Amino acid sequence: MITTANSTARVKILALIFLIAVLIMVYPRSTQAGWTIRIQSWNLRYDSMPNDITVDETIAALNKTVPIDTQTKYYSDDTEQPWSTRRIGIKNEVLFNEVDLFTVNEGLHRQVEDLKELLDMPYIGVGRDDGAQAGEYQAIFYNPESIKLLSNDTFWLSDEPFEPSKYPGAGSYRSCTVGYFQTNKGGTKFVVINAHLDDQSDDQRRLGAALIKYRAAYEQETKKAPVFLVGDFNSQVSGETNGAYKITTGRLEFPIDRLNSTFVSKYNHSGSGFEFLDLIEATPVENRLGNLATFTGFKNDVDSFSRIDFQFGSNTSNWEAIRYKVGENWYDDSYYLSDHRPVISDIFLK
Ligand SMILES: *[C@@H]1O[C@H](CO)[C@@H](O)[C@H](O)[C@H]1NC(C)=O
Ligand SMILES: *[C@@H]1O[C@H](CO)[C@@H](O)[C@H](O)[C@H]1NC(C)=O
Ligand SMILES: *[C@@H]1O[C@H](CO)[C@@H](O)[C@H](O)[C@H]1NC(C)=O
Ligand SMILES: *[C@@H]1O[C@H](CO)[C@@H](O)[C@H](O)[C@H]1NC(C)=O
Ligand SMILES: *[C@@H]1O[C@H](CO)[C@@H](O)[C@H](O)[C@H]1NC(C)=O
Repeated sequence: MITTANSTARVKILALIFLIAVLIMVYPRSTQAGWTIRIQSWNLRYDSMPNDITVDETIAALNKTVPIDTQTKYYSDDTEQPWSTRRIGIKNEVLFNEVDLFTVNEGLHRQVEDLKELLDMPYIGVGRDDGAQAGEYQAIFYNPESIKLLSNDTFWLSDEPFEPSKYPGAGSYRSCTVGYFQTNKGGTKFVVINAHLDDQSDDQRRLGAALIKYRAAYEQETKKAPVFLVGDFNSQVSGETNGAYKITTGRLEFPIDRLNSTFVSKYNHSGSGFEFLDLIEATPVENRLGNLATFTGFKNDVDSFSRIDFQFGSNTSNWEAIRYKVGENWYDDSYYLSDHRPVISDIFLK
């Protein structure tokens, strides 16, 4: 027979076990406050061989037979395939990585709409040629299960940043997407900027980098949130065209009076010091994985491989780079998913 004293003790023990279970559920990753987010950025290559094939038709035509080793020519097909074919591999790559944010460069309207369907994730961003659906999007997809969008906008990397515009001498209209987000768990806020700098004008790349850095410093100062910059710089860390990288990382000054004056006053900040850290450098060396080059082209020609796609974080102490990887765009039994490789990082937000 159970005495009253015994059952009170049991209730107390059960209550304690329940409390511990609740605490474990509330703090699954760490007892330190904060959350880790995974960002994958990828220049997808624009849809250069458009066709009318639907997603369902592509899936229906996939060969379900798994080949045996002798039927496979490893790394045989390095030719460009149409987007309608590539999109399935890209979708699987992103979903397999279980990302919180997926940013794309060179995505035309059809491409970002396909990904919205295939990934089942919303995106922000507009076509750079008209601020609506024309031209490439610097889209930012986010997983609504883990991330909430607070606000977003687009500006152009030109002398007229508030309207679709082209820098004199640039090959294309160039824009960037700014997203202000919050983690669902923990409610930590952060900003992501996704940009694509010009392939022809080094002056545009420098101006673009300076506009982004100026805006990022404003975001950091007014929101007190970390700012991450991702995208294709069309230029490298070293060599004659490394101005954009040097401006971004605070190794080269760009005169503020050469930026659009409306932009400068709208995003005015104290200027007490802001620069971006390259995430590969910010990540502990033992946590870096994968390739160095991010651009490969559609040729197995390693002499043209280069690191031109980056992820950066504000030089603030409210985040930590946990892991960094440049992934693959070409698997041994298939074809190039894009002419760029994806960059993936895990970032701890404090
Ligand atoms: C499907 O793949 C198998 C294995 O590689 C191959 O033998 C077969 O010919 C393929 N079928 C078609 C229709 O391409
Ligand atoms: C994001 O930007 C689009 C286009 O400017 C706008 O329609 C939408 O309301 C924005 N969403 C948020 C949450 O700010
Ligand atoms: C700044 O940009 C706006 C539009 O984006 C434009 O109307 C204005 O003329 C530009 N200012 C200067 C000084 O070029
Ligand atoms: C920025 O703000 C400071 C003080 O708040 C002011 O002195 C300065 O003139 C402003 N600069 C611009 C470009 O608006
Ligand atoms: C960030 O970089 C700027 C410019 O180099 C510097 O003035 C500032 O002290 C740095 N901030 C932090 C938190 O390291």
